[in-house]
Amino acid sequence: MDERIITSERLNEDIDTNIRPNSIDEYIGQTEVKENLNIFIKAAKMRNESLDHVLLYGPPGLGKTTLAFIIANELGTNIKTTSGPAIEKSGDLAAVLSTLEEGDVLFIDEIHRIPRFIEEILYSAMEDYKLDIIVGSDSSSRSIEIDLPPFTLVGATTRAGDLTGPLRDRFGIVSKLNYYTDEELTEIVKRTSRVLDCKITDDAAVELARRSRGTPRIANRLFKRVRDYALVLGDGEINLEITTYALDKLKVDSLGLDQTDYNLLKSIIEKFNGGPVGIEAIASSIGEEQTTIEDVYEPFLLQKGLLKRTNRGRIVTDKAYEHLGINKK
Ligand SMILES: Nc1ncnc2c1ncn2[C@@H]1O[C@H](COP(=O)(O)OP(=O)(O)O)[C@@H](O)[C@H]1O
Ligand SMILES: [Mg+2]
Repeated sequence: MDERIITSERLNEDIDTNIRPNSIDEYIGQTEVKENLNIFIKAAKMRNESLDHVLLYGPPGLGKTTLAFIIANELGTNIKTTSGPAIEKSGDLAAVLSTLEEGDVLFIDEIHRIPRFIEEILYSAMEDYKLDIIVGSDSSSRSIEIDLPPFTLVGATTRAGDLTGPLRDRFGIVSKLNYYTDEELTEIVKRTSRVLDCKITDDAAVELARRSRGTPRIANRLFKRVRDYALVLGDGEINLEITTYALDKLKVDSLGLDQTDYNLLKSIIEKFNGGPVGIEAIASSIGEEQTTIEDVYEPFLLQKGLLKRTNRGRIVTDKAYEHLGINKK
């Protein structure tokens, strides 16, 4: 897969921790999630107890990892991080769990990818702060139980539906992150402009926000590219003209759609007469993984009303035909 400029998955250049907000106050949008968390964090601190386990879910780039770090910051505790794919053996999980100190946050990214047979270790760790492990082999093997200090598990996932019931049930706080409004993203763009010390005009910030698919990670990435155009072609300050010029060059359209979105919609229109068509057929026709389509491309197209999901398959909507300038047959 080509690297998309507007991909919401993480690219190396994003490892730029200074743009990442560090406190709830700096975290823009997701008002309901933020307000609730704020109360639960304060209450946990007043009671001098660890915060209940938190599950954050939603499309990539909306601020799940950022929020996990903020939770630890606000609690005033350490954060240890790992991810579902990094946990291959039960020993991998036991190793991180045994480093936890009282009140710590354990962040597990892509938690839906923990192998099922390892997941069970988490159950007693989350519920009773006990770690059950098997030591020795074959006939001499026995199970030992280790006490863990009270800690807070923060899990993040793009696919809450892939978590097993028993795991999901062990999270006291479950929060869904939604796409940001244009207004919220405009604020994020302005904040990034201050942090990176690169001026942007108000109308340019609005335009950049509008083309960022409701996703802060994309807004920040586009900001950096537009900043390059402003530096080379202008005086370094980002204005509306530079922004539209740069975004057109980067092939990001007025709704934030790029070539991959166009491919996806057009292939449903051209090869499947606009649908309904199953996700497997779409995946093979555009040469993308089914899960990538479901987690990354499709949610935004659904949210924008360009694509519809029915039980017979995906349908391209009239709005999409209109946006693409294609007549419906
Ligand atoms: N609410 C927010 N306010 C400001 N910037 C944000 C916010 N949420 C995310 N960001 C920015 O977007 C980037 C991607 O967020 P991240 O937490 O890595 O997303 P996720 O873990 O959901 O994929 C972060 O580096 C941060 O700079
Ligand atoms: Mg993340």
